[in-house]
Amino acid sequence: MTDKILRLGVLASGGGTNLQSIIDRCHDKSLTAEIAVVISNNPGSGALERANKAGIATRCIDHRTFESREAFDTTVVATLQEAEVDLVVLAGFMRIISEPFIEAFPLRIINIHPALLPSFPGLHVQRKAIEYGARFSGCTVHFVDGGVDTGPIIIQAVVPILDDDCEASLSARILEQEHKIYPRAIQLFAEGRLKVEGRKVRILPPDEVATGALINPL
Ligand code: GAR
Repeated sequence: MTDKILRLGVLASGGGTNLQSIIDRCHDKSLTAEIAVVISNNPGSGALERANKAGIATRCIDHRTFESREAFDTTVVATLQEAEVDLVVLAGFMRIISEPFIEAFPLRIINIHPALLPSFPGLHVQRKAIEYGARFSGCTVHFVDGGVDTGPIIIQAVVPILDDDCEASLSARILEQEHKIYPRAIQLFAEGRLKVEGRKVRILPPDEVATGALINPL
């Protein structure tokens, strides 16, 4: 564990409720991290408004003003590096990340997805889960790799799909859990407790990190 506080770069395209949950947990100190910068590709994003209100540095980098994904990503990476970000947090960021971006932050980019991966990767997944007839859905925090929603899974929460659910009601029920598990996953990262072993993420017990020793019983 390091004494240096973890610096987050949050990327968001939409309303920013996940960003808000991270801001709130930083404020109440249950999350020992600070948000160095919030970046959005969408000038009208609620996330930028929330960050401004909280006094956090913001950058709007509109992807429509770039001629390629790579050019956009290069600017985003430079902005994150300039802000000395340790961990990149995708919080409703509706852009696919290119390989050079991933290589710039190896195992230091995480994403939240509103389904129980590996089921329902991609977009509109709450609606797809209902249409499929699944009885449960949920949300997943995972490391980002080169695929779409394929990286090693850190934490998940499960919610039931009810007979009268519509896309909006299921999304709201999932979002409530997202707000709990995303700050928790970031805190585990901040404590140095996430060990990636191939596809699996092992959560180290706190004592193992602090002393390098295992104490039994804990
Ligand atoms: C969240 O449900 C998040 O899981 C989802 O977008 C929403 C953003 O909400 N992300 C994706 O679908 C990524 N593919 P928010 O802006 O209120 O945090």
